[in-house]
Amino acid sequence: MNIILFGAPGAGKGTQSELLIKKLGMVQISTGDLFRAAIKNKTPLGLEAQGYIEKGQLVPDSVTIGMVEEVLKSGVQNFILDGFPRTVAQADALEHLLAKMNLEVSKAIFLEVPQEILMGRLTGRRVCKNCAAVYHIDTKPTKAEAVCDACGGEVVQRNDDKAEVIGNRLKAYDEYTSPLKEYFVRSGKFVSVNGNRGTDAVFNDIAALIK
Ligand code: AP5
Repeated sequence: MNIILFGAPGAGKGTQSELLIKKLGMVQISTGDLFRAAIKNKTPLGLEAQGYIEKGQLVPDSVTIGMVEEVLKSGVQNFILDGFPRTVAQADALEHLLAKMNLEVSKAIFLEVPQEILMGRLTGRRVCKNCAAVYHIDTKPTKAEAVCDACGGEVVQRNDDKAEVIGNRLKAYDEYTSPLKEYFVRSGKFVSVNGNRGTDAVFNDIAALIK
């Protein structure tokens, strides 16, 4: 089954995707991760995306849609779209692309987390520079300070997790992504999951929806 996982910055999309990969063998397509990899490798796509991401703005639709199209064309199956679509234009483009490729997304799962919780999750998040493992200074700290438990890499704060940038990301979410709830209600694919619980409880609800 192919699904869309969406929600505000910090709602837990990456965390749940990781569990879906490990426990259900799904494949994650995260536009945020794809952009960060492109930035790290200094590709033309990365150089174009970097300025937007550092300001907490969305990367233009044409760039983002083209990037996702390339991944879908590779024949990926049983996938989670994490962080895409994020605008109505992206959702329309996705529908078109999937139809062309004879693919379908069965559910658009919305992770619902109150706004006041998001800021703490984002400012406290730390990520491994090497393997991209995700930690949190309070709820999921590394065993040794700033050292990744998984690979020993350096664990740092994402540039866009600084308080001044988070405000812009949340604003972009409210303006462009939040309207997708209505979009998916209309298409009959919308399901909401309470994301303000322990990660396992959230995962169990998502897994039940997928089976
Ligand atoms: P992206 O990387 O997709 O950022 P985001 O949507 O802002 O989502 P996050 O990665 O911040 O959060 P998440 O929901 O994955 O939460 P996580 O699981 O890590 O995008 C980055 C940027 O790229 C965008 O701002 C934009 O510029 C650009 N971009 C990406 N896609 C785009 C698109 N389609 N169009 C245009 N531009 C695009 O969890 C967060 C923290 O909370 C972690 O520390 C975690 O440990 C903790 N946590 C998770 N779950 C729980 C829980 N249940 N309880 C307690 N703590 C939890």
